[in-house]
Amino acid sequence: MQYRWLSHAFLVFGGAASSITAGSSCALDPVHDSSVKALGDEDGEFPPGPYHRAGQACTVCHGGQGPAKSTFFMAGTIFMSPGTRDEAGRVAQKAEIRIRDANNPMYYKCVRANCRGNFYVTSREFPSGITFPVKVSVSQGTQERVMNSLIGREPSCGACHKRPGFFDSPGQVYLYTSESEVPQTEEEECNPSTPEPERDCE
Ligand code: HEC
Ligand code: HEC
Repeated sequence: MQYRWLSHAFLVFGGAASSITAGSSCALDPVHDSSVKALGDEDGEFPPGPYHRAGQACTVCHGGQGPAKSTFFMAGTIFMSPGTRDEAGRVAQKAEIRIRDANNPMYYKCVRANCRGNFYVTSREFPSGITFPVKVSVSQGTQERVMNSLIGREPSCGACHKRPGFFDSPGQVYLYTSESEVPQTEEEECNPSTPEPERDCE
């Protein structure tokens, strides 16, 4: 398969590139506290773990300032279609996310989302951290979508990709532009005891 963006000339980055390393905890930050609170309680069906909080800005909590102990360089959720105001619709189970960072302009890392469309990357995928800006694309089978712009510093897809799309947001990350294009394949059962899939992909 040819990935469109791999053949793009990679932009040259002037100025400061920020790099994220696993942060230390920073308690007593009222802005951070209220961002965490704004995300609300766990939904009950999926306790804290790889399947929880689909669509949310994961690194609000997994960004080094807590409350999660595990920290992610980048994370998010891939959906099948843009969804509606009330419904996110199906998640893109086992979608592939390709990430190319400023350190390695010729190389991309592929990570696989789980059965809730959630993915995250850590030092396991990027042993020396991620250097922004970052280029991403998502795919499932032959369906691929490329984010044209570069991500300058925000580690969570969900921080920008909020549903419904509006002037302030491109909407949730999706693979098909409308519900009617989504292939009617059977969904894999997904519950908290489902083992996580192999996260590496090509
Ligand atoms: C409101 C805070 C919050 C948000 C938002 C959040 N998490 Fe978590 N998550 C936690 C906490 C707390 C835990 C408990 C384990 C820990 O401390 O790492 C956890 C656990 C996890 C774990 C298990 C880690 C381990 O080492 O056992 C994974 C994986 C995970 N979350 C993924 C995600 C993903 C992906 C997202 C976004 C779609 C997300 N989380 C959003 C708070 C959050
Ligand atoms: C800083 C804000 C921001 C972050 C963070 C961000 N995006 Fe985007 N994304 C955008 C904007 C704005 C667009 C629309 C313009 C474009 O394609 O560049 C977009 C477009 C996209 C598209 C193309 C949509 C289409 O219409 O085909 C995909 C796919 C995508 N993003 C995936 C992701 C993924 C996956 C992540 C997390 C790893 C992510 N984005 C993080 C702002 C962001």
